[in-house]
Amino acid sequence: MNAPFSLGKTTQREPFVAFVCDEFSADTLRSVATEHGWPIEKVLKGGLRNAVQTLAVSTSPNVLFVDLSESGDPLNDINGLAEVCEPGTIVIATGQVNDVRLYRDLVASGIHDYLLKPLHPDMVRDSILQAHALLNAPKAVEATVERPHCATAVIGTRGGAGASTVATSLAWLMGEQEKRSTALLDLDVHFGTGALALDLEPGRGLTDAIENPSRIDGLFIERAMVRAGERLSVLSAEAPINAPIETDGSAFYQLQEEMRNAFECTIVDLPRTMLVNHPHLIEEVQTAVIVTEMTLAAARDTIRLLSWFRSNAPHVKVVLFANRVHPAGAQEISRKDFEGSIERKLDFAMAFDGKLAAQSAKLGKPLAEAAKGNRAIAPLADLARHLCRLTEDQDDGAAADPGKGGTSLVGKLAKLRARLPVKAKK
Ligand SMILES: Nc1ncnc2c1ncn2[C@@H]1O[C@H](COP(=O)(O)OP(=O)(O)OP(=O)(O)O)[C@@H](O)[C@H]1O
Ligand SMILES: [Mg+2]
Repeated sequence: MNAPFSLGKTTQREPFVAFVCDEFSADTLRSVATEHGWPIEKVLKGGLRNAVQTLAVSTSPNVLFVDLSESGDPLNDINGLAEVCEPGTIVIATGQVNDVRLYRDLVASGIHDYLLKPLHPDMVRDSILQAHALLNAPKAVEATVERPHCATAVIGTRGGAGASTVATSLAWLMGEQEKRSTALLDLDVHFGTGALALDLEPGRGLTDAIENPSRIDGLFIERAMVRAGERLSVLSAEAPINAPIETDGSAFYQLQEEMRNAFECTIVDLPRTMLVNHPHLIEEVQTAVIVTEMTLAAARDTIRLLSWFRSNAPHVKVVLFANRVHPAGAQEISRKDFEGSIERKLDFAMAFDGKLAAQSAKLGKPLAEAAKGNRAIAPLADLARHLCRLTEDQDDGAAADPGKGGTSLVGKLAKLRARLPVKAKK
């Protein structure tokens, strides 16, 4: 379900106000209003324009029902409504245009639902029920100040290592297992799978943010983020492949900052090329989860990433997560050799499990949710717990600290070359 028009306090407001253009819709809404005990006088004649004029001079209701039938440019007019509508109102729109693109654009702009005319009482009832569930759900902005914000970046050493799988699962676990309001920021702007993995449309939020960084504020975050559950919201994109991203990275930085204010936890799916182009993105992150397979190339890049963090972000705790781990003998490099090459232990290791990965894709759910209760994904649940503990106790010495006793990059690479070809062939 997408973000409500805006989140905020919902006291001293009309529970429901409707602006509709035709008598049939008005009758349907009156009957539903009566069932809820709401005054039928609040079903008013007139469409979007009337709604904008009225709300400009009065308190916005909890649920606003608005007819777009007489609007020539619904998307643009909805923006006019956004300017007068107070935070906290959930907007349900109706109209005659049966176009899935319009529906998606409206939902992406923060409209809770779009109902096609003629209105049926059942569909109005369902939509209002959902709106109420959303109104009563814990809000992202209600994050408590007692727990420090937990900001984590997930980075894969090589393409396909499973960084996005870990990032989406981690975000889901932070919400479900650790009960923290969580934002998943997928910075793989062209090829990201954050929304896809959750069976959601990515919306235009991230693309808008990159195009107009000056628009990024708390309200933008509330409207642009796509809700994936009670405590999880996502910002992701599927930018056209022929459109290079033109940004100095300030949009990403600002997004992270606003997310810190609105959520208790941020998980950033950070493509490693972003680390090269926008190293400042890691500045405010407390923990980096490096996801790796156990291959020769991945060992080389694990070493390089560890070294990069030591030199450029010594404040970041680095957690090493081995993924797609095959049984001994079927692995390009054994765990022992891999750890020997990178000169530190892996913190977590999750086995390769094609069946579970397929199940997760089929269900459109993060691996951790699709395989809930299965021991195979225990390392993900352990990782989520570990990250929370790290942020709650910054002095926790239990975490592996790659910053200790490191040697030079050149030296490590020399060792890697000296060791791997021989041992890997065993
Ligand atoms: N433990 C696992 N067992 C089996 N398959 C897995 C496992 N983890 C991830 N996969 C699968 O591996 C593929 C790549 O995963 P994912 O997209 O998360 O990798 P990535 O590192 O984000 O890739 P990219 O470099 O494209 O961003 C996906 O099909 C995913 O389902
Ligand atoms: Mg990815």
